[in-house]
Amino acid sequence: MTVKLSLPKNSAMLSTDFTYGVATASFQIEGGADNRLPCIWDTFCDTANKVIDGSNGLTACDHFNLWQQDIDLIESLGVDAYRLSISWPRVITKSGKINPDGINFYINILDELKNRNIKAFVTLYHWDLPQHLEDNGGWLNRETAYKFRDYADLISQAFGNRVHSYATLNEPFCSSFLGYEVGVHAPGKVGKEFGRKAAHHLLLAHGLAMKVLSKNSPKSLNGIVLNFTPCYPASNNEADKKASDFADDYFNQWYIKPIYDGEYPSIIDQLPPEHRPDIQDEDMSIISHPTDFLGINFYTRAIYRADEQEQFIQIPAPEPRTDIGWEIYPKAFSELLTSLNDKYTLPPIYITENGAAIADVLVEDKVADLDRIDYYQKHLNAVNDAIEQGVNIQGYFAWSLMDNFEWAEGYLKRFGIVYVDYKTQVRTIKSSGLAYKALISNR
Ligand code: FCB
Repeated sequence: MTVKLSLPKNSAMLSTDFTYGVATASFQIEGGADNRLPCIWDTFCDTANKVIDGSNGLTACDHFNLWQQDIDLIESLGVDAYRLSISWPRVITKSGKINPDGINFYINILDELKNRNIKAFVTLYHWDLPQHLEDNGGWLNRETAYKFRDYADLISQAFGNRVHSYATLNEPFCSSFLGYEVGVHAPGKVGKEFGRKAAHHLLLAHGLAMKVLSKNSPKSLNGIVLNFTPCYPASNNEADKKASDFADDYFNQWYIKPIYDGEYPSIIDQLPPEHRPDIQDEDMSIISHPTDFLGINFYTRAIYRADEQEQFIQIPAPEPRTDIGWEIYPKAFSELLTSLNDKYTLPPIYITENGAAIADVLVEDKVADLDRIDYYQKHLNAVNDAIEQGVNIQGYFAWSLMDNFEWAEGYLKRFGIVYVDYKTQVRTIKSSGLAYKALISNR
């Protein structure tokens, strides 16, 4: 069976100027928990019934010890870039100073990437907030935004010119809504009065850090990574369309509009005052600091219908679905990219995450993940379609380099293009990894 990924002959994505990469995040792969401060995900994992398989990130993929062979693996895939995140509790002490051991761990990685001509796309915050900051209110405390700025300042000075691109935050929607409004992610707070407040402080943190990054690292591409789950109405009737638009403003536009338009979506006026963030005078101009790129993560869409009590109700995801229950609907990806391009004046876009959870099985040292290849094929086509319609997209990162700790799903869901046997820590490139490699190297 041919298990190939391909693109139309004249596709801009076949140019060697288009950046292909693989992505990971610190808490999901590193382990090495003894060498850092605790973070909110350690605490969340230790709380009963939060993570489905009762697992934690103490060892994960043991990347803390295996990073050299992991860089060999990344190089063997032939990618142009590697997107990683920095563990804030590994690099900054409780008193706010650089932790030399922690910083050296990343400097060694960055130097090794440079030696091999692999561009480093560094995300400063992929959800592992130091627990001591959460003890002080976490993202509900405005002070945390300034702590993040100071962290970004120290890190970007220490890393010098080793970084090709900095993203301040990964998916502030997840940190704020999942973490502080519905509580299915760390720190597990629940309350409509929390979500928007946390989001505002995260966005403020982003803006404050952007200023610092453009001073300390003017040559890197500095920006943010946002996730989008495009909203579709359950029917053509006006009430469903309104419900879906409201959901779109609440879940998607809420995080991008402040950055590119300097204001929240107008639904802010419909929220009860106690659910609204506390916006101080300069905040919106800080948040809308220019960015050099926008990172977009896409996995699936969501469908909404109207309801008499609630603003919207999400209906169950139709088939086909991946192993995590997310509908496979690539059309939403190209429609998302063109619609954002119409709505906002955007910098160049990088697809910083896209991929599928599949119930992989390792048979005779092989993983024939044909469904994942199919997912990638359809979504690469969707990106290509958006480019053909005039959207400026410069790169694409597969989520993920390897199977890892999938947050509240623990180790049960596999997103890697490389299989990880958690008992032995042996890595095996899946068929999707081989197909990705072939696509990249045949350009
Ligand atoms: C995204 C996260 C990433 C990973 C994928 C599946 O929301 O950024 O860490 O868990 O989903």
